[in-house]
Amino acid sequence: MGTTNKIQNRKQETSDDRPVAVVTGGGTGIGAACCRSLAHEGFRVGIHYRSSEEAAQNVLADVKDGFLLSADLCDPVQVDEMVTSLKAEGRVDVLVNNAGSSINSDINSMKIDEFDAQRSMLRGTWYLTKRILRLFMLRRNNGRIINISSVVGHTGNGGQIPYTMEKAALDAFTKSLAKELWGRNILVNSVAPGFIETAMTEELPPDVATNILSNIPLGRMGKPEEVADVVAFLAGRGNYITGTVIHVNGGLYGG
Ligand SMILES: NC(=O)c1ccc[n+]([C@@H]2O[C@H](COP(=O)([O-])OP(=O)(O)OC[C@H]3O[C@@H](n4cnc5c(N)ncnc54)[C@H](O)[C@@H]3O)[C@@H](O)[C@H]2O)c1
Repeated sequence: MGTTNKIQNRKQETSDDRPVAVVTGGGTGIGAACCRSLAHEGFRVGIHYRSSEEAAQNVLADVKDGFLLSADLCDPVQVDEMVTSLKAEGRVDVLVNNAGSSINSDINSMKIDEFDAQRSMLRGTWYLTKRILRLFMLRRNNGRIINISSVVGHTGNGGQIPYTMEKAALDAFTKSLAKELWGRNILVNSVAPGFIETAMTEELPPDVATNILSNIPLGRMGKPEEVADVVAFLAGRGNYITGTVIHVNGGLYGG
């Protein structure tokens, strides 16, 4: 095989001209819906998961030319390995920082290491973003970073102090990073969901769920796809939006 053919074949193997979007926590809930929406918009999607490989494989089956990525985002070594593996894709145009979890207990009961565990998720998001920026987006002066925060980072929520602190900090990260990337054509925004039907809200006690619903003008919880629609808009269009928080909560909170 001649050198030219080798180069051409390599090009076909490693990239087509479609932009690449990476979604953390892409195997479940809101992340899975984001992967499907972004694929529908024409992105090749990198579906990141930590432990739920089977769920991520199911999403992969639904998206054309997607690929899987794995890391515990709280571990910088694993993040480094994941980012290195991304080099084979040649580009990352969109990063959706969706992965998250909440440890729920009141201030009296919460242990200091539980607080630290929640905080390390924020550090992981910061570190992954830093690596993706340096390796891909800053080189091309092009990119979109979308952080999935939460309404409770704005309203507060008893029993979720570290989680609400993390989500408020994530929105501050969005605003500061958008300013730091001044003139770079890299847009940074948050999407702050209200209460959305996923594993995270499935286990709410019935009285808590009833109380939440009574405060939502649209009278129901949201669907993951309704958050993903906004993410897809910010990823593919939304050319003049940066440093902002878009609330998707059925009217629960207006910002
Ligand atoms: N469901 C809601 O009502 C709601 C409301 C507001 C915000 N959110 C946010 O939306 C995002 C998605 O949540 P969801 O509701 O789809 O729940 P989910 O539990 O289905 O998704 C969370 C994902 O994050 C991943 N994850 C958690 N910690 C990780 C880590 N250390 N490393 C790698 N991956 C990790 C999980 O494996 C999971 O796939 C979260 O950031 C959550 O805080 C959800």
